[in-house]
Amino acid sequence: MKGDYMMFDLKYHKKYFAGSRVELCTKVQQSVGEKRYRHILGVEKAAIELAGKNAVDVEKASIAALVHDYAKERSAEEFKKVIDRKHLDPDLLKWNNFIWHGVVGAEIIEDELKISDPEILNAVRRHTVGSVKMTQLDKVIYVADFVEEGRVFPDVDFARTIAFKNLDQAVAFETKHTLQYLLSANKTIYPTAIETYNRWVVAVN
Ligand SMILES: [Fe+2]
Ligand SMILES: [Fe+2]
Repeated sequence: MKGDYMMFDLKYHKKYFAGSRVELCTKVQQSVGEKRYRHILGVEKAAIELAGKNAVDVEKASIAALVHDYAKERSAEEFKKVIDRKHLDPDLLKWNNFIWHGVVGAEIIEDELKISDPEILNAVRRHTVGSVKMTQLDKVIYVADFVEEGRVFPDVDFARTIAFKNLDQAVAFETKHTLQYLLSANKTIYPTAIETYNRWVVAVN
């Protein structure tokens, strides 16, 4: 596993993170299990490719991808404490890890990794449920998370094909796919995910 990221080193300009890419990888690796770390590296690889195709800052895409699931394995207690301490919307307390690891995770990333670039933090906040106002960087991370090479689901080849052809269509496809899954499994839908659907699925198709 170690060799995988040592072989590749994107040069960081230390504007958004105070260390090198390998140093960031090490911190991320310490925060999550092995399987998730492999997913994260897959997301970074896809994000760098998508960034190149869509005129997005490759360094920001790399950093946002590497940290997007940084807080995924934190406890409910930790997320609730951060919501209180940072005076985030108290409605968040009613939700779960699926929502917290992005929206609240961004605060943990800022505190622990000292990454404060608002575009990078917003891409983390928006990577699970999207947003009405997704930037190109937000879309790159949202889509890379869905199509990275380790993902296995029936439509994944189709999703990958669209991802590298048309980023907005990929956002629409992924949003619809996720909502369909949540509906069929009788799971709750975070209101922002519905707003994302109205903006990116209804408007694009
Ligand atoms: Fe995630
Ligand atoms: Fe992820």
